[in-house]
Amino acid sequence: MTDTAKLEIDGKVHELKIITGSEGERGIDIASLRADTGCITLDPAYKNTGSCLSNITFIDGEKGILRYRGYPIEQLAEQSSFLEVAYLLIHDDLPTRDQYEEWSEALRYHTMLHEDLRALFAAFPKNAHPMAVSAAVVSALSTFYTEDLDPTDERQVMNSIERLVAKFPTIIAYSHKHSLGQPFLYPDNRLGYVANFLRMMFGTPCEEFHVDPVVERAINVLLILHADHEQNCSTSTVRLVGSSRANLFASTAAGIHALWGPRHGGANQSVIEMLESIADEGLSARQFVDRAKDKNDTSRLMGFGHRVYRNFDPRATIIKKAADDVLGKLGVTTKLLEIAVELAEIALSDEYFISRKLYPNVDFYSGIIFKALGIPVASFTTMFAMGRLPGWIAQWRELVIEDQAIGRPRQIYVGPSMRDFVSIDQRKA
Ligand code: CMC
Repeated sequence: MTDTAKLEIDGKVHELKIITGSEGERGIDIASLRADTGCITLDPAYKNTGSCLSNITFIDGEKGILRYRGYPIEQLAEQSSFLEVAYLLIHDDLPTRDQYEEWSEALRYHTMLHEDLRALFAAFPKNAHPMAVSAAVVSALSTFYTEDLDPTDERQVMNSIERLVAKFPTIIAYSHKHSLGQPFLYPDNRLGYVANFLRMMFGTPCEEFHVDPVVERAINVLLILHADHEQNCSTSTVRLVGSSRANLFASTAAGIHALWGPRHGGANQSVIEMLESIADEGLSARQFVDRAKDKNDTSRLMGFGHRVYRNFDPRATIIKKAADDVLGKLGVTTKLLEIAVELAEIALSDEYFISRKLYPNVDFYSGIIFKALGIPVASFTTMFAMGRLPGWIAQWRELVIEDQAIGRPRQIYVGPSMRDFVSIDQRKA
């Protein structure tokens, strides 16, 4: 295979280097294109643009492959824990037992929030969306730990990483507790990461809280499945913000906001809302699928389609199986899962979805499990954020360590050419 591409512009041929990744992916290096030719490339929504070289996550969208640092998602979901996967992403490899102990201990030490942050939670209306509250509180961490904000100082970065990973479940749980008007529970550091989160989320100071191991394991698996997904919208946001050398808290808060949208992580909430509205309106699955295909109707089949996966989303396959397992073990039957299964059957044999290569994505079934596990719908996307946090951190860190230049796309201007200013009285309507 050739390692250069030729581009002819105005009769002149330019040679461009082809970069090949460790899994054979190929990219044309256009870094010097504008300097050499005066042209830029145009790729709105970056459908075809590689923004970096990265050694964190590999996806083959055609084959449905997802690997973190080389490890297949199926093996990690089956055999690992979320904290171990977080270590893998952030520290480049799976931890030894000693490294794992050290990592868990460091996180245990930082689970509590500064007491003054209570005032920030209290300032939000009770119906504030937990994504807005979480982003605000993560951003506010930068005002409490000002001595550790320098992205180029490894010790400061590690302090910030440990604080952020440790405090994130506390932040999410408090966002939920605030919406209920219930007291915040301090973390109980005898518990593991997920168990501690569940207690803060669902416990009260009046009763002892028992963590159901089925629920704890299911949440671990869901978090692992969400932990990284290379250059998606929120991760690219974190990297772009980080490329200005904004601190980790500021960059992560930006990522949370990007994740919130219904075409990204917010889809898990939208899927449940869609399933509930189908049930409430008494629609058949076929009727809703027809709506989603109708270009005059704004409905989309939420939880379907993916920019990268064109065959199947391996995370959706694992989640569907986990949903069946967990619902079976908890003895939960849900009309919503029945509707989801019917929607998927119809869509997967429908020409509209087949020709556009639209398949169920990670969000299609995750909301059903979250709901069965008792997670409130408004908090679904914060669960996604908790899972994605190690990925954001690893990607931010990679960018900073490699001292990547500030991100700054260009544009092709198509507005008016130069014209002279007209005073307000002389302007025509
Ligand atoms: N329902 C109906 N039609 C769809 C859907 C859908 N869910 N998704 C895409 N299409 C159609 C779209 O209308 C377009 O049709 P046409 O070619 O006739 O104009 C075609 O398929 C291509 O769609 P696109 O929006 O150009 O594709 P994209 O790669 O830009 O968008 C997506 C990917 C995930 C934003 C989109 O499929 C979507 O909106 N899905 C629903 C929201 C969703 O589930 N998001 C979660 C994504 S996975 C988790 C995550 O990354 O956060």
